[in-house]
Amino acid sequence: MHAPPSPVTTPAKRSADDWVSLLDTARTAAHHYLRNLDSGTITPASEDLAALEHLVESLPESGTSAVGVLEQLISIGSANTVLSSGPNYYGFVTGGSLPIALAARWLSDTWDQNAALEVMSPISARLESIVQDWLVKLFGLPRETVMGLVSGSSVASLCALAAARQHIYQSVGWPIEKAGLQGAPLIEIYGPDSLHGSIEKALRLLGFGLDQMHWLPTDAQGRLRAETLPPLNPTSILVLQAGQVCTGAFDDFLQLIPLARAQGAWVHIDGAFGLWAAASDHQQELTGGIDLADSWVVDAHKTLNVPYDSGLVFCRHASALETALSASGSYLEAGSHRDGMAYTPEMSRRARAIELWATIKTLGRVGIGEMIDQFCDLADLLKTQLQSGPYTLVGNCGFNQVLVCLATDDATQEALSKLQASGEIWVSGAQWQGRSTIRISICNWRTEPRHILKLAEVMRATADEINHKL
Ligand SMILES: Cc1ncc(COP(=O)(O)O)c(C=O)c1O
Repeated sequence: MHAPPSPVTTPAKRSADDWVSLLDTARTAAHHYLRNLDSGTITPASEDLAALEHLVESLPESGTSAVGVLEQLISIGSANTVLSSGPNYYGFVTGGSLPIALAARWLSDTWDQNAALEVMSPISARLESIVQDWLVKLFGLPRETVMGLVSGSSVASLCALAAARQHIYQSVGWPIEKAGLQGAPLIEIYGPDSLHGSIEKALRLLGFGLDQMHWLPTDAQGRLRAETLPPLNPTSILVLQAGQVCTGAFDDFLQLIPLARAQGAWVHIDGAFGLWAAASDHQQELTGGIDLADSWVVDAHKTLNVPYDSGLVFCRHASALETALSASGSYLEAGSHRDGMAYTPEMSRRARAIELWATIKTLGRVGIGEMIDQFCDLADLLKTQLQSGPYTLVGNCGFNQVLVCLATDDATQEALSKLQASGEIWVSGAQWQGRSTIRISICNWRTEPRHILKLAEVMRATADEINHKL
């Protein structure tokens, strides 16, 4: 008789034996990190960055203790993060992470579900359907709208514009799946010249050239001026925005979309952070008319404050989106309700609906609206704080964005560098209509009036320092 085989003790197995201490160590480190978000220095200290420079490691031949690796990661990793999920960070358009969103994310990472097919994760498929219904209602989109869960608005716009291309070619009788793009009828794309760069990137990926993209003149806020819109036709795409990345401006949907739709054009709305305005009783007006469009994108990792890697595409023409993103395989088992991969370019992907469901359910429509109002009220507070100078408000900005400059571009750039180096707050910069500006984007659930007062104080002190030098 043979002896039973001895248990397998591969390195992977050995580290699995440590799972309780690994997760406990990670949890303790996470608590420590979160406690430091308000008071910590926003950017890494120079000695920590230097330690990172020295982290040059060759491929380890044999493994080592997983707890030891995690501890190394905590010490060198945490110190070299940017506290961008804290209340003093105003760069780019950066959401924080609500406690329920983070906790649900931890759980979903533990479940490690593949959200491609219902048969792989019934819970993911069900929650995707529920979140789709909730958000279609929250944004006031047409009932037939379908939703795909992707990594962010860049990919979401890629999906939406792929659906637009599919729909247009199908309606003019061009067999795009078979014939491809060679010799296809030209599709012309129009939009404000202030569109986010992700739109041009998505269009390039889809095979469009700059010659087919017509970026039209805008007003001081970056909104498309209706009188500059040329005649459109059923092979046109009009891209509009709900929330310009610098000024927070919303295009005039009620005026522009009926015009475009009457001529048969497809209308896409980039609402990466601004579409959430629809959830607020006070900001809702900005999104009036969005329901008339054909496709929309929004990020949950921005204004909704769920952790990164959470964007959404919405499309009123389900079959255009599904056909554009379709993939087949004899081994793929169709579910009886919803297979998430039908609405995204990916097959395997994490179950993003889990933290979305938990977050939306925890806040409710009213709670989401209140969070949006909080961001907008804080933006107003900052504008009031800064109105006595020396900063000038630029771009007539609104929603959760504030854009300012000093008397000269050099002074603005110097202030920006000093503010970024301060460690107390962090803001980013941009060129706006030919001027150097400082962008302040308020998008974190932790930010309170006291943080804005501190921001204004740091900004004023920085400007004073520059003035005294001159
Ligand atoms: C208006 C707008 N569109 C698109 C994007 C791209 O979003 P993501 O970084 O999630 O791909 C952003 C990012 O800030 C944005 O502000």
